Amino acid sequence: MDINGSTRTIGLIGNPVEHTLSPVIHNGLSEAMGISSVYVPWKVEADGLEDAIHGAYELNILGMNVTVPHKNAVMEYLADIDDAARNIGSVNTLVRDDGKHGYIGYNTDMPGLRRQIHEDGISLSGKTVVILGAGGASKAVVYMCLIEGAGKIYLVNRTIGKAGKIAEDMNRLVKSGALSQSEQYPFLNETNKGVYTEYDRVVPISLSEYNKISENDLIVFQATSIGLFPNVNDVVIDDPSFYEKIDTGIDLIYNPAETMFMKLVKAHGGIAYNALKMLLYQGVIAYELWHNVKVPDEIVEDMYVELKRQVYKKDNIVLIGFMGSGKTTFGKELAKVRHMDFVDTDEFIEARAGMSIAEIFAVKGEDEFRRIETETLKELRNQLSNTVLSTGGGMPLRRENALLLKDIGKVLYLNAATQVIYDRVKDDTGRPLLQGTNPYDKICTMMKERRPLYERACDIIVDANSNDLDEALYNIQKVI
Ligand code: ATR
Repeated sequence: MDINGSTRTIGLIGNPVEHTLSPVIHNGLSEAMGISSVYVPWKVEADGLEDAIHGAYELNILGMNVTVPHKNAVMEYLADIDDAARNIGSVNTLVRDDGKHGYIGYNTDMPGLRRQIHEDGISLSGKTVVILGAGGASKAVVYMCLIEGAGKIYLVNRTIGKAGKIAEDMNRLVKSGALSQSEQYPFLNETNKGVYTEYDRVVPISLSEYNKISENDLIVFQATSIGLFPNVNDVVIDDPSFYEKIDTGIDLIYNPAETMFMKLVKAHGGIAYNALKMLLYQGVIAYELWHNVKVPDEIVEDMYVELKRQVYKKDNIVLIGFMGSGKTTFGKELAKVRHMDFVDTDEFIEARAGMSIAEIFAVKGEDEFRRIETETLKELRNQLSNTVLSTGGGMPLRRENALLLKDIGKVLYLNAATQVIYDRVKDDTGRPLLQGTNPYDKICTMMKERRPLYERACDIIVDANSNDLDEALYNIQKVI
C-alpha cells in the first residue's frame, strides 16, 4: 500500500482489540478500491475514552469503529448520533464531521445483518422471530426485525430482566412512532399502523420457558455466546422439539463456520446460516460512510472469500493452470512429500459420471461439463482438508469457480511457456480441446485468453517450466 502525505487513517477502538478482523476488511477494501487509507487497532481503556475521541479528532483521523466495551459509552462524546444508532443504543462507527467539529455515531451492525438476510433471501415480514440472547448484539437484531416487519419477536434469555428491559425499550419505540420517522418502514403505514401497535411485538421469555413458544415456521437468531470456538459442541437449547419448529436459523457466531445450533436446525429440516456476511457488511457500510463511495459488489464478493480464508484457515493447496502445466504430475508428488492427500477434479468427475471427460464433452457438451465442475467444487469445499487439489484447465475461467477455489485453499497457478505445454501434450489424444489441425496455434490462442484469468484466480504464480520433478517441486515449495 502506498502511504504518503495524504493517506487517511482509520481504526478500531475497543479493549481488547488484538483478535479483530476489521483491518483485513478495511485495508483490503482500500487496496481493491485504490484509496489511500490505513486501518489500525487502538486499545483504549474506559477512563481514556473521552480523551481518545477528542485526540482522534485533533489528529485528523477520518473515522473509527467502536467495539466492546465502548459501544454505549462513546455516545456521550459525539457531535451527533444517527437515529437508528440512538434507538438501538449502540454505536459501532464514527464518521468525522468537520462542520460539527466531531464525530457522528452510526450503528452498521444492524444494516449489516439486514443486508445479509436480504441476500440470503430471508423475509421477516409478518413472521414470528425468536432471538436467543439479550446481550450486546441483541438490541440491533430486535430493531432490524422490527423494521423488516416481523410480526412477533420472542426475546429469550437466561437473565429474564435483560430481555425484559430490551423488550420494554423497543415496544415503547414502536408505539411512539419513532421508527417510522427515522426510516421508511413499510409495515407502519397509515392503514396498518394500528395492527402492529395494538400489542407488544417484542415479548421477553426466560430461557427455561422457551417451550411456551407455540408457533411454527420460526426464524431464529442465535445471539448468545454459546457455541463459539473452541466450545463448538455447546448449544443454548438442545431440545429437538424446539428445532422442529424452526424454518430458518441465523447464528451470529461465524467461528466455527457451522455451529451446533446450525447443525441442529439443519438436522430438523431447516436452513441455517452463520453471520460472517454480517461482519463483512457492517464493515463495508462503515467504509462507504467514511470514504463516501459505493463499494462494487465484485469487490465485496472477493473480500468475503478473503475473510473466510482468514477465519477458517483452510490448509489445502489448489493447483490451476493450462493443460500440461503439471497440475497432476507435480501435484501428486507435492502431496507425497508434504504428507497430504491428492484429489484431481477431472478424475473425481470421471469416477462420478462413469465416463471420461472426452465422453462427457461429446455426449453432454461443454456447458454441462462446466456446470458439473462447479457442483464438484461446491461439494469438495466442505470435504477437503490437508489436500492438494489438481483442477481441470478450464476450471477457474468461470468467476464462480475461481471464488470457490480460493474458498478451498491457497491457489497456485502453474505457469509454463507455450512451447513447453505443447511438447508435453502434443501426443495426448484424450484432450478434447486439442483435437483438429494446428494444435500449437490453438494452444497459443487459448493461453492468451486464459492467462489473465488464471492470474486473477490465483494467489501465487509458480514457474512450472522445468520437466525435472525435483526442480519443479522446489519451485512450488518455495512459494508455499
Ligand atoms: P454481551 O453480549 O453483553 O457482551 P455475553 O456475555 O457475550 O454478553 O452474552 C451474550 C448472551 O449470551 C447473553 O444473552 C447471555 O445471557 P445472560 O444475559 O443471561 O448472561 C448469553 N449467555 C452467555 N452464557 C450463557 C449460558 N451459559 N447460558 C445461557 N445463556 C448464556
